[in-house]
Amino acid sequence: METLEALHSRNSVTSLSEPVPTPEEMKMVFQAALRAPDHAWLRPWKFIQVTGEGRKKLGDAFLRTATAVIGDLSEALVEKAKNAPLRAPMVLVLIADIKEHPKVPEIEQIISTGAAAQNMLLALHDLGYAAVWRTGKMAFNSEITKQMELPESNRVIGYLYVGTPTGRVKEIPKLDMNKFVSFWD
Ligand SMILES: Cc1cc2nc3c(=O)[nH]c(=O)nc-3n(C[C@H](O)[C@H](O)[C@H](O)COP(=O)(O)O)c2cc1C
Repeated sequence: METLEALHSRNSVTSLSEPVPTPEEMKMVFQAALRAPDHAWLRPWKFIQVTGEGRKKLGDAFLRTATAVIGDLSEALVEKAKNAPLRAPMVLVLIADIKEHPKVPEIEQIISTGAAAQNMLLALHDLGYAAVWRTGKMAFNSEITKQMELPESNRVIGYLYVGTPTGRVKEIPKLDMNKFVSFWD
């Protein structure tokens, strides 16, 4: 796939099943992430690839986080938190490991991790897989950092749910670039 074709045709997909990318394919996906722009080369990116039983472990961390943040949970909320990672056969946890630097604030390191996430979405698309980026209450939250037993410097900025599309894939909206761009000549 040509680069521009991949950029123009990427589509978020929420209905995802097996197969997931092979280890060789995931190497290419992570190498794409590691080409994200990165002020002062701080390398703030961290990813956790979660599959199989690992998704239950992640669900348990979601449940502990929801309990700590919300308090007493209804049975429906317990099920929702616990089962969230089971919505796809692979989940990639997106983490910014924030470094102290006189010229590079936290926001730039989070943006860089977001750019790495977009590179992964595009690489997955190029390889014929699909994904959706999710956040919700389990991101940008110090409790999830604690419950995943990550260092305090780590910000969980979201999750890529990954797999092979099942069912109908939505139509890509056609947007008029002139509504988003102005020109100073
Ligand atoms: C940082 C970020 C967080 C997001 N969080 C969620 C989310 O929690 N739930 C959700 O349904 N979509 C979420 N989205 C939106 C989807 O990933 C996706 O972009 C959206 O469904 C539109 O589809 P498209 O990317 O194909 O245009 C998020 C997107 C971004 C960039």
